[in-house]
Amino acid sequence: DKDVYILGIESSCDDTSAAVLHNNVLLSNVTSSQAVHQSYGGVVPELASRAHQQNIVPVVDQALKKAGIEKEQLSAVAFTRGPGLMGSLLVGVSFAKGFARALGIPMVDVNHLQGHVMAHFIQEPDMQNPIPPFPFLCLLVSGGNSQIVKVNAYNDMEVLGQTIDDAAGEAIDKCSKVMGLGYPGGPIIDRLARQGNPAAFKFAQPNIPELDYSFSGLKTSFLYSLQKWIKDDPNFIENHKEDLAASLEFTIVDILMKKLKLAVKQTGITHVAVAGGVSANNGLRNAFHEAADKLGWTIYIPKFGYTTDNAAMIGITGYFKYLDKVFCSIDKPAFSKVTF
Ligand code: KG4
Repeated sequence: DKDVYILGIESSCDDTSAAVLHNNVLLSNVTSSQAVHQSYGGVVPELASRAHQQNIVPVVDQALKKAGIEKEQLSAVAFTRGPGLMGSLLVGVSFAKGFARALGIPMVDVNHLQGHVMAHFIQEPDMQNPIPPFPFLCLLVSGGNSQIVKVNAYNDMEVLGQTIDDAAGEAIDKCSKVMGLGYPGGPIIDRLARQGNPAAFKFAQPNIPELDYSFSGLKTSFLYSLQKWIKDDPNFIENHKEDLAASLEFTIVDILMKKLKLAVKQTGITHVAVAGGVSANNGLRNAFHEAADKLGWTIYIPKFGYTTDNAAMIGITGYFKYLDKVFCSIDKPAFSKVTF
């Protein structure tokens, strides 16, 4: 097991991605994002699966080429089996199974959420990235999930708390849609927020016990507040978009960090990571740095390329499962529902 080459494949939502790893070192990570959804203000599942069909072969080809290896050198194919959009998953899952079968190598199924957490273990040829020691906490915030995960080992993750309704990313995207901004709203809100006042407006904060989250109340509060303000000033959004973005981002980061701080207090674990698409957010990253300075946390923030959906994180998870000989049989189907 000295030279393990893993092909990782990700197709759970609207990004078709393939990556090649040599052991824990990433050789290539090729992602084709689907612009087709932008005009709809959200991912259209049927269009997503069609685009995956078109993208999957060229993306895998490119990943192998960039890595400088032949497909015959691969040790295994790792793929996202779920959760995600079923039509999207089927493309990656079927491709991965067929490819692995044709090459006569094992298939490794990967849970997309575990993949996001495992992004922290990716190493690069000229770069030693800091790796969190077990156990550590991971705030997993994406378009579909908001969870606090206790990571005991590569293959042992416990969900300590999670959203009871919307995910943080979903809330940001919906609020930005209400403001008439583009899709996905997260990066746009992030950019606008840099020029705004986070204390300009107050929005509802949830009152949820323990370590769970809720973002649907905030979404409603944002919508109703906007409707009221627009009545008095039809140009309200245009005139205040930076302050609105900054205040919205502040509220979401505040909600996320309050429960994460509680989780640190309850577990005594001060190695804290963040993962998922929303971990690209500058406000959230700043809050992590502040917690490191003021509360003594050791923080782990992924590189931007590993925050949103990518196959590198699927490949690294597959690598560790491969070492443990945890393989997937050909009859295991894709699954759409969130499980950990
Ligand atoms: O992890 P991801 O790519 O997909 C899922 O697995 O869900 O996350 C996508 C989410 C979207 O809601 C997007 O708006 C959000 O991550 N996002 C951001 C930023 N970049 C992406 N949210 C806030 N700030 C950002 N810079």
